[in-house]
Amino acid sequence: MRELIYLDNGATTWPKPDIVHEKMGVFYRDYGVNPGRSGYDKAMEAEETVQLCRKKLTAFFNGDDSERLVFTYNATDALNQVIQGRLTEGGHAVSTTLEHNSVIRPLYHMDKRSDVEVTWVPFRESGFIDPEDIRKAIKSNTKLVIVNHGSNVIGTAQDIGAIGKICREADVFFAVDASQTAGVVPIDMKAMCIDAVCFTGHKSLFGPTGIGGICVAKDAVIQATRWGGTGVKSILKYHLEEYPYRLEAGTMNTMGVAGLLAGQEFIESRGGPQAIRDHEMKLARKLWEGIKDIDRVNLYCAESLDGHIPVLSMNVEGFEAANTGTLLDVDYDIATRTGLHCAPLVHEQMHTAEIGGTVRFSLGPFNTEEHIDAAIHAVGEIEKMSKGWTKSIDY
Ligand SMILES: Cc1ncc(COP(=O)(O)O)c(C=O)c1O
Repeated sequence: MRELIYLDNGATTWPKPDIVHEKMGVFYRDYGVNPGRSGYDKAMEAEETVQLCRKKLTAFFNGDDSERLVFTYNATDALNQVIQGRLTEGGHAVSTTLEHNSVIRPLYHMDKRSDVEVTWVPFRESGFIDPEDIRKAIKSNTKLVIVNHGSNVIGTAQDIGAIGKICREADVFFAVDASQTAGVVPIDMKAMCIDAVCFTGHKSLFGPTGIGGICVAKDAVIQATRWGGTGVKSILKYHLEEYPYRLEAGTMNTMGVAGLLAGQEFIESRGGPQAIRDHEMKLARKLWEGIKDIDRVNLYCAESLDGHIPVLSMNVEGFEAANTGTLLDVDYDIATRTGLHCAPLVHEQMHTAEIGGTVRFSLGPFNTEEHIDAAIHAVGEIEKMSKGWTKSIDY
C-alpha cells in the first residue's frame, strides 16, 4: 500500500505525536478515575494532571490565572459558551466573514432567538481584516467582538493585537477563535488585549478529539449557559459562580486533558509554536511556489504568504473542488479537504460556493519536502487533464 500523504491538518493534525499516544494510555490505565470528586490518592493524582494542564495552557496563552482555564469539548463548545454567555441580554456583536460556522451559527441563532444584532466585517481582497474596519463596526451597545485568528480556508492570520487594542480602547469584550492558530502562532492574551481565547485540542495542540477550552482573562465575565454537577459544594442550589466550575459541568474528558498536556510537551520539544510554524511555512511556501504559476490553477488570497498559516486554498479551472480532491486522493494518495470548510461567508465573498468551494492543503509538523513535491506533481498532472475536460465550469 502506498503511503498516504496527509495534507489535511487543518481538519485535525495527524498522526498525533507518539508522546501523546503514550501518555494518554498510561494516564487512563493508571489514573483513569474521576478527579475532583473524591479524596483518595488516585483521584488526587488524576486531579494533579488536570491542574498541571490548566497551568501549562494558561502560561502558553499568557493568561492570568489557571483557575480561569476552562475545559470544553472542542472549539465549537468553547465558542458557543462565550457567544451565548456574553450576549445573554441582547446587544450588538461584531464578527467577520472569515468565521467558521462554530461562530456564525451561534450568532445567527442568538439573532433569531433574541434581540442580538451582528455586524459582519468583510475581509479585504488580500484575505486580511483591516482592524480599522472593526473599530468602525463597534457601537455603543456592542457586547462582543469575536474574530477568527487564522482562516481555515485561506490561511490568513489576523492582526489580533491591533484588533485587541481597539476593543480595549472601546471597552468591548474581545474573544478569539484560535482553532487554527493555537500551537502554530504565539498568542499572548495580555499583550494582545484578549478577554477569551477559544481553542480546540485536536489540531495544532496535538491532543485528541473531544477536548478544547477557553482561557478567560482575569476580569472578563462569561455567564454560564449550562449547569450541573461540579463535584464540589453539592449542597448549593445553583451552579458555582467561580471559575473553572462556572463554565464546566459534569465529568470532564480527563483522557483528553492528559493528551493535551502531552501535546504541550511535544510543542516544547519542537521549540515552541514559532518554530513549528517556521517548518510548516517553509513547506507551504514550497507548495505555493510550485503551483502558483501553473496555468489553470487559481489560488485564493495568496498573493504572498506573509502573515499566513500553512493553509492554502486553490482550484483547477474546469473542475469542481470535489473532483480535484478525488483525483488527488484516488490517483495520488494525497488527502486534502474540499468544499466550503464550514466557512460559508468566505466563499460568498470569493464567489467560490458556486464551484463547490476550494481544495485546501493544510500542513503539519510531520509533513516533508517529499510530500510537497508529490503534491506539486499531482496538481500539475491534474491541470493537464483539466485541459481536455469538456464540461467546463464558469469561473
Ligand atoms: C477556524 C475554526 N474554528 C472552529 C473550528 C471548530 O473546531 P472543533 O470542530 O474542534 O470544534 C474549526 C475546525 O475546523 C476551525 O477551523
